[in-house]
Amino acid sequence: MKIQDWSQRKTQNKKITMTTCYDAWSARIIAETTVDSILIGDSAAMVMHGFDSTLPIDSESIASHVAAVSRGVQMAVNNKTSKGKFLIGDMPFLSYRKGITEAMNSVEVLMKAGAHAVKLEGLRGHEDIVKNIVGSGVPVMGHLGLTPQSVHGLGGYKIQGRSEVIAKQLLEDALELQELGAFSVVLECVPTALAQKITQELSIPTIGIGAGPHCDGQVLVLQDLLGLSGNKFKFVRKFADGESWIKEALEAFSTATQSKDFPNMDESFE
Ligand code: KIV
Repeated sequence: MKIQDWSQRKTQNKKITMTTCYDAWSARIIAETTVDSILIGDSAAMVMHGFDSTLPIDSESIASHVAAVSRGVQMAVNNKTSKGKFLIGDMPFLSYRKGITEAMNSVEVLMKAGAHAVKLEGLRGHEDIVKNIVGSGVPVMGHLGLTPQSVHGLGGYKIQGRSEVIAKQLLEDALELQELGAFSVVLECVPTALAQKITQELSIPTIGIGAGPHCDGQVLVLQDLLGLSGNKFKFVRKFADGESWIKEALEAFSTATQSKDFPNMDESFE
């Protein structure tokens, strides 16, 4: 998928798929599927590093995940099992709230690590930064609704846009992001009707997570959809029972070793 395909997909009414990924081995596997794009999200802080929010991760750490994902996708490209994937690197907490230089430094490390675009949360107060990033030739994805970097300001991980005032503000922000040149907007945890309205009003695609079925695409955290995170959010569908599968394999390895069945002579050197 290339940048121009994003708007085309909306015009063609063909859904866009995105999953998070933070490492090379799962990136190689995703690259060999029809999933369209990969988000190297700041959710890496929680999923990969065990923090209880996305706040602690910095640009260098996300860039190192971007580089790993980029290498994993490249493995599949080299094997001719994939044509590559569109990679979006998440700008971490406060990296775009301390002025242009700090923001552009963050963009630089993410793009040099292999991202094809960056994503940032919210809009009010950093409109000039969005404009500057887009003006520098770097595609920008917006992220509205439940913006996890503002968890303390929002009073928790809660659905956003139930009140008329916030719903109006979210629609205005989405339109302004489009005006500033964003190529797509993630809508996280907003009521279905509001996500539908925003999707109808925008010419750029919306990507939903907990935003109902009317968005132009859907994103899920890889470990959630694989059943590896233990998260039971209403909006997550477990497409596999990855945890049971991994435990079964580990128990089988342990049992085979204890019973001296592993390794056998075919698995050993003369
Ligand atoms: O970091 C992340 O995983 C995200 C998605 C939930 C959209 O921002």
